[in-house]
Amino acid sequence: MATAVVLVTALIMLFGFVVMVGAPYVPTLRVQSVTALDLLNLKAGDSLLELGSGDGRVVKAAAERGIQVTGIELNPLLVLWSKLITWRYRDIVTIKWGNIWSTRHWPEKTDGIYVFLLDKFMQKLDKKVTQTYPSQSIKLVSFAFEIPNKKPKQERAGLYLYLYR
Ligand SMILES: C[S@@+](CC[C@H](N)C(=O)[O-])C[C@H]1O[C@@H](n2cnc3c(N)ncnc32)[C@H](O)[C@@H]1O
Repeated sequence: MATAVVLVTALIMLFGFVVMVGAPYVPTLRVQSVTALDLLNLKAGDSLLELGSGDGRVVKAAAERGIQVTGIELNPLLVLWSKLITWRYRDIVTIKWGNIWSTRHWPEKTDGIYVFLLDKFMQKLDKKVTQTYPSQSIKLVSFAFEIPNKKPKQERAGLYLYLYR
């Protein structure tokens, strides 16, 4: 009984802590993952960065298209799980355990970015993307939340596509 209580408390703390620095774990549904990847329109060999990659389902869906994916996730359990489910794509998938706001985890170059965060983080995200990739052409898709004062190039089923450069 005591072990169960400790385990449940640890899980609540693990998932709860994330809320202080980012969005809680709510996964993108399969149909939305497909729409997000269609909007990004990346080709096999292109690269995608997912900030807050959750259980790795979008990472996996992108890898199935031959896209080279980097996922960054704060919750170590979700990191482990996503490494497991993307194991067969390990040549093109990298899952990093870390904080998305520390841009040292971000790859040097990326063709696309996918996020499902929260309204209050969208301005900060916009600034980070602009600062980190000042001269790269990047397509960014955000699920559910728009970037303030930035016009999306396209909107489909609650997913917003933005172009940088
Ligand atoms: C709304 S969920 C989306 C998960 C995944 N992107 C998807 O679409 O299925 C947000 C994810 O971001 C992670 N997260 C929140 N803040 C973070 C941070 N500062 N650094 C890394 N990951 C973070 C959460 O643990 C959670 O898995």
